[in-house]
Amino acid sequence: MTQEIILHYKLADGTIRTVDARVGDSIMDTAIQNDIDEVVAECGGNLICATCHVYLDEGTAALFEEPDDMELEMLEGVAAERREHSRLSCQLIVRAELAGHTIETPERQ
Ligand code: FES
Repeated sequence: MTQEIILHYKLADGTIRTVDARVGDSIMDTAIQNDIDEVVAECGGNLICATCHVYLDEGTAALFEEPDDMELEMLEGVAAERREHSRLSCQLIVRAELAGHTIETPERQ
């Protein structure tokens, strides 16, 4: 059975959207499935568009491996401000430990 967790998305206007996220899906996929339009994901998760940019807080960032070279390169092209824990959400896979965490979306993609 697929495990689901609660995940929050904080939009640029401060709105919090709380969704059910399936473990194993990406944070990008979860946003798209839940009509969170702030995640655009033009390339569908192929790491060639950088329109799935999100911000993580310190604790959430620590749950993931560091971005690889390809992701770091793509992060240089994000449309909004790049922050210390900027990530491309197609590269972040939902896991049980993420339950209750908040993913922030930038003001533009
Ligand atoms: S969806 Fe295109 S880089 Fe993530």
